[in-house]
Amino acid sequence: MGDLRTSGVDGRERAMGAEELFFSTTDRRGVIRQGNSVFVRISGYSLDELVGAPHNTVRHPDMPAGLFRLIWDRLNAGRPVGAYMKNRTKDGGSYWVFAVISPLHDGYVSVRMAPCGPLFEFAKRVYAQALRLEREAVQRDGMNRHDAALLGMAEIEASLWKRGYASYEEFMLHVLPQEVSARSRLRKRGYARPGAQGSIAEVLSGTGALDGMLDELVGRLAGYQKLGEELSTTSAKVLDIAHRLNASVAAATEASELVAESAPVLANVARVMAGPMNKAVDALERLQTEFGRLRTDVAHLRFQISLASLYNDMAAAFAAEVFDRVAPPESLTAVPLLCDAAGSCIAEMSEQVQRVNAALRDIAHLVTQTGTSLEEFRRFIGQWRNLVLRHDAGRVLGDKVHPIDEEISVSWEWMELLRNLGRQYESAIVPCDPALLQTHLNKIRIAPASL
Ligand SMILES: Cc1cc2nc3c(=O)[nH]c(=O)nc-3n(C[C@H](O)[C@H](O)[C@H](O)COP(=O)(O)O)c2cc1C
Repeated sequence: MGDLRTSGVDGRERAMGAEELFFSTTDRRGVIRQGNSVFVRISGYSLDELVGAPHNTVRHPDMPAGLFRLIWDRLNAGRPVGAYMKNRTKDGGSYWVFAVISPLHDGYVSVRMAPCGPLFEFAKRVYAQALRLEREAVQRDGMNRHDAALLGMAEIEASLWKRGYASYEEFMLHVLPQEVSARSRLRKRGYARPGAQGSIAEVLSGTGALDGMLDELVGRLAGYQKLGEELSTTSAKVLDIAHRLNASVAAATEASELVAESAPVLANVARVMAGPMNKAVDALERLQTEFGRLRTDVAHLRFQISLASLYNDMAAAFAAEVFDRVAPPESLTAVPLLCDAAGSCIAEMSEQVQRVNAALRDIAHLVTQTGTSLEEFRRFIGQWRNLVLRHDAGRVLGDKVHPIDEEISVSWEWMELLRNLGRQYESAIVPCDPALLQTHLNKIRIAPASL
């Protein structure tokens, strides 16, 4: 099919409602196979015009090529991707969406919603800057389009990096859950249709139940993440004290060597007490690494839950549209496909949940280990202090004992807090039953067959 665009662009922006979701599927090259009524109404094209046309039909010239490069790199690697996109309508207007695209069977499926999260304005600025660079490179320096897209991509990544995101992936993992939860807060009506019957009612009740389960999981994950952040800050504080304690112990050991001839036991105990202190520092350092890993795993898990809930919502939206007679009954044929898309998210989720729970157990173990080592160290330091008194070495070692005593008492309070959080954390294992989620999905998947 040729270029369907009939006019240039104008400044008119079409807004889409929080309830509305765009749907399309394509083949592996991005040629459209299916669309929904929202896509038709907002883009201004008929479904006949869209089906068989490449998806770049709706591409807006304000979009940097670098973004599509990032998108296709992920899709070609077989992974889902999410991005803000400005699209062009048939009559030259525009509309913004937050799009998610997933590889599915022999093509791709995409669901798009109105962007309303806090990073939308930031994304617009990033795109404008990348587009400016790409245009300058092409128009002023004669760069080819392929290289200009690479330049735009690097610019987008650099802007995200400045904002604290190590990669586009990290940004996307953060943004999709934000957009999905902002949307669910804004949505007024929802998809429940009390008068629905037959397969429509089945799809709506199945998607409603799944939505509730995913929502609950997201809620628990949020509490879990907050606890994780507190634990991470507390352990960083204990690590800081432990580093200072370690330095004081090293100074005490060195000073004990000075009286090694008259009181060798002092140096011996000092050397031994450095052992548990080093172990505690080691466990605390490993805790920091574990927290980093956990943060990444939780971010992936939240992303998959949000993606599954979006595909689930899309299935519900189809059923609601058919009930409202906005879409023909045949559009329910998209439901099994959406169930497959949500199903692969759930499969990923169950792997992520296992990883998160394993990290949680490791963290709880390291907290216990830190406590045991610090306890052991405290026993040695008590002995060492007594020995200093007994050998009358206070004159030489007195100023070494004092900072250790002070740091120990501070560390003890923090350690108590750490232990408390560690206990709460251990009992916060994320309960997730993927088999139950899949059972719900299966019910939704077969419902349209009875149409
Ligand atoms: C499922 C799917 C949905 C897509 N949705 C859009 C879209 O809404 N807007 C858009 O400009 N590109 C979309 N794309 C990307 C286009 O295929 C295309 O890469 C992009 O418009 C850039 O056009 P160009 O490659 O001709 O420069 C989508 C691709 C796929 C696979």
